[in-house]
Amino acid sequence: MYHKKNTLIVSTVSSILFLYSFSSYAQPIELSALKAEAITIVKQFGGTLKPQLKKALAEGGVKQAIEVCSVKAPEIAKNLSMSTPWQVKRVSLKTRNHHNATPDAWEKSVLEEFNQRQQQGESAKAMAKAEVVKDEFRFMKAQGTESLCLTCHGSGLNAETKAALKQYYPKDQAVGYSLGQIRGAFSLTKKL
Ligand code: HEC
Repeated sequence: MYHKKNTLIVSTVSSILFLYSFSSYAQPIELSALKAEAITIVKQFGGTLKPQLKKALAEGGVKQAIEVCSVKAPEIAKNLSMSTPWQVKRVSLKTRNHHNATPDAWEKSVLEEFNQRQQQGESAKAMAKAEVVKDEFRFMKAQGTESLCLTCHGSGLNAETKAALKQYYPKDQAVGYSLGQIRGAFSLTKKL
């Protein structure tokens, strides 16, 4: 009898421990899955926009590429936000399109952190941040300035580029970047 009771206690304790280990591991596993999901969407965004940008630049020059970007970039963000459970946008501390790229408080602090990390020598390539904020999972992936980007975001832009930017974005702040700097970030949010 004594023996039986002991076995019962041992098995109860071990099942509690088993369940506890599950609950403490469940959170990080779920977060890494969310992060993987977010990265897939970021790749879809960049993988759709960049080829269109390159094609427009090659075929129609900078003015046409700016027009394409002004239509396609917001369109891709909107489509991804409608076809997935994520809210998808791009943000920057120096916006070109201030209507859709102005960061909220969390995004602003992450962009500032990205700038610091870049200044300390970290490459933008794998730079990202994931965090649970209230009841949302938030993810940002930095976008570094590559040589392609300098055509429209660098310093000393040519007259044609300046004129086109002025026409579409009279409040443009997104110029003067140099290679490797953080141009902005993809920002994704999912309700938990
Ligand atoms: C042909 C000109 C052109 C080139 C080249 C270009 N961009 Fe842009 N970029 C734009 C335009 C136009 C917008 C505004 C799009 C909109 O209205 O949403 C923009 C917006 C952005 C934004 C959104 C935030 C904001 O300021 O509005 C980011 C981030 C960005 N560009 C990063 C890049 C990166 C990184 C590269 C290089 C891989 C790049 N751009 C190359 C024209 C360009």
